[in-house]
Amino acid sequence: METTPSPNPTPLHSLEEWEDFLKDRYPEPQAAASHSAAPFKATDPEKKQEQFRNYEADARPTVREFYRLNHRYQTHDFSKAKREEFLSLSRREMGIWEAMEYLNQLVDDSDPDTDLSQLQHLLQTAEQIRSDGHPRWFILTGLVHDLGKILCLWGEPQWAVVGDTFPTGCAYSDKIVFPRFFEDNPDYQVSKLQTKNGVYEEGCGLDSVKLSWGHDEYIYHVCKDYLPMSGLYMLRYHSFYPWHREGQYSHLLNEQDRENLKWVQAFNPYDLYTKSHKPPNVAELRPFYEDLIAEYFPKKIRW
Ligand SMILES: [Fe+2]
Ligand SMILES: [Fe+2]
Repeated sequence: METTPSPNPTPLHSLEEWEDFLKDRYPEPQAAASHSAAPFKATDPEKKQEQFRNYEADARPTVREFYRLNHRYQTHDFSKAKREEFLSLSRREMGIWEAMEYLNQLVDDSDPDTDLSQLQHLLQTAEQIRSDGHPRWFILTGLVHDLGKILCLWGEPQWAVVGDTFPTGCAYSDKIVFPRFFEDNPDYQVSKLQTKNGVYEEGCGLDSVKLSWGHDEYIYHVCKDYLPMSGLYMLRYHSFYPWHREGQYSHLLNEQDRENLKWVQAFNPYDLYTKSHKPPNVAELRPFYEDLIAEYFPKKIRW
């Protein structure tokens, strides 16, 4: 099983480098510029092909190395092993706000003057959703969406925490960035894992699909007893760009996935485009969010 980290498991100076790359790759569409909940249309495939080459050529070496490791080590077996390892949720018990503060210990090499902390990113995302008048569960989903990054604090390498997620155990879409790095993934040599459906049944639904492991799948499981399905879709698939931005893998979807795609797409602009350098006032916002958290979550939940 491929669980051995590479010699340098942390090529990114900060997790933000991956997110900045995503922002370059998926510039804010006009329609979503006002942060309306208008879903994205999958972009023109012709044009996309052209852009792919540019993104790959222009990517920072750190980002390229990050994707190389991600595509090399995220095998089908790895994604199953990590579910086994983490989804018993037996590491600790924490409330949501406590988890936000815990995640905030994640300090990387980024410039402290210009970059927001993890807690600030969560508050900023939630505040933008709130200011657009969305329901309370939607605001709360924004608040918790990246708490799965605490995996980094437990020694998990960057390539196993962040990155655009993709289905393992079946053919890789060429719309995933740096597709050629999959040639080094051991699954690439296993023909039954490289057919269109691979280990899955046509139309089986994403719930049965083992996406590459990361912070999305983890936070989904932490929250799944507490948030409505639309919010859970946002949590679980917010990094699944090959689906929500590229329109790939339709053969694996079921009716429920097709129904909920609009929520994943409604969430994406808040995650990707709300980063402003003006830090939110944490002390001022805390009472509002403590109330909101208490409305949906018990005082302590399992992580
Ligand atoms: Fe995220
Ligand atoms: Fe995020």
